[in-house]
Amino acid sequence: MKTIANVHQYEAWNGYEGRHWAENQDRYEAMVGGSNRPLFEAARIGQDDRVLDIGCGAGLTTRRAAVLAPRGRALGVDLSAPMLECARAVAAEKGITNVSFEQGDAQVHPFAAGEFDVVISRGGIWYFADPLAAFANIGSALRPGGRLAITTPDSTGGRVGTGFPDIFRIMGEYLPDPPVLATEDESRALTTMATPGDIATVLTGAGFVSVAVEPHGYTAMLGRTAKDAADFVFGLGPVRHWFRDADADTEHRAHEAVRAALAPHEAAGGVRQPVSGFVATAIRG
Ligand SMILES: C[S@@+](CC[C@H](N)C(=O)[O-])C[C@H]1O[C@@H](n2cnc3c(N)ncnc32)[C@H](O)[C@@H]1O
Repeated sequence: MKTIANVHQYEAWNGYEGRHWAENQDRYEAMVGGSNRPLFEAARIGQDDRVLDIGCGAGLTTRRAAVLAPRGRALGVDLSAPMLECARAVAAEKGITNVSFEQGDAQVHPFAAGEFDVVISRGGIWYFADPLAAFANIGSALRPGGRLAITTPDSTGGRVGTGFPDIFRIMGEYLPDPPVLATEDESRALTTMATPGDIATVLTGAGFVSVAVEPHGYTAMLGRTAKDAADFVFGLGPVRHWFRDADADTEHRAHEAVRAALAPHEAAGGVRQPVSGFVATAIRG
């Protein structure tokens, strides 16, 4: 096992959180798959490209990159053993041979210098304790002139009426210590690199050029019914963490409040919620 700098993330993604993602891959895909299009449009992967996928999780985007680069290859790096196990199993089942996966912390992983043409990440870059060090390390893996394309959620809570910030605000009414969204108190924020300014500052500071950060939006499918969707969001790792000390009655009332808020969104195809995020592109200088 290589060096791990982000020990708490390592524990979470090799504990409950990683198992929940591994066991509910389809549900997570229904939640985040809407960001595939902006990610791959921005990455412009060519047939010969060597692609590095940061925080690849169960590996859907890594496999897609490998298919887009039949004369190249794709490597997924992630902290989570349970998610990587799924990633490898699905790649083998689908017969994709130019893809591989390594367990490691992208902030400190010993990449060979300039071994990749493209770096991608779908929501895997907002967990670094030291984003500048992480992106300097990730940048060292890109050849000069290589491209970076990443998507990341907008968790600033700035746009009232958008799915998760509202759901989290409702949950917060039942918690003695409500989750803090980035714009309210960056030092206690749910994520790092939550604003376009943060993302651009980190990428520029890490030596990338032509940095661009654009907003994008998509629709997340959370469940078949409002109850199913509320059950799912109450199973998310951060939510389990927030409610770890709550008594059963408090959590039940919070669950009911979220279910009621989602009920008007029930439709034949399921419960959909808008998600806003950012897609960032940059070139290694
Ligand atoms: C929100 S999940 C996204 C997974 C995957 N990219 C997807 O879209 O399905 C975040 C992923 O980032 C990984 N991760 C978090 N911190 C990491 C780090 N320091 N190095 C590598 N992977 C990390 C987690 O293990 C997890 O798989």
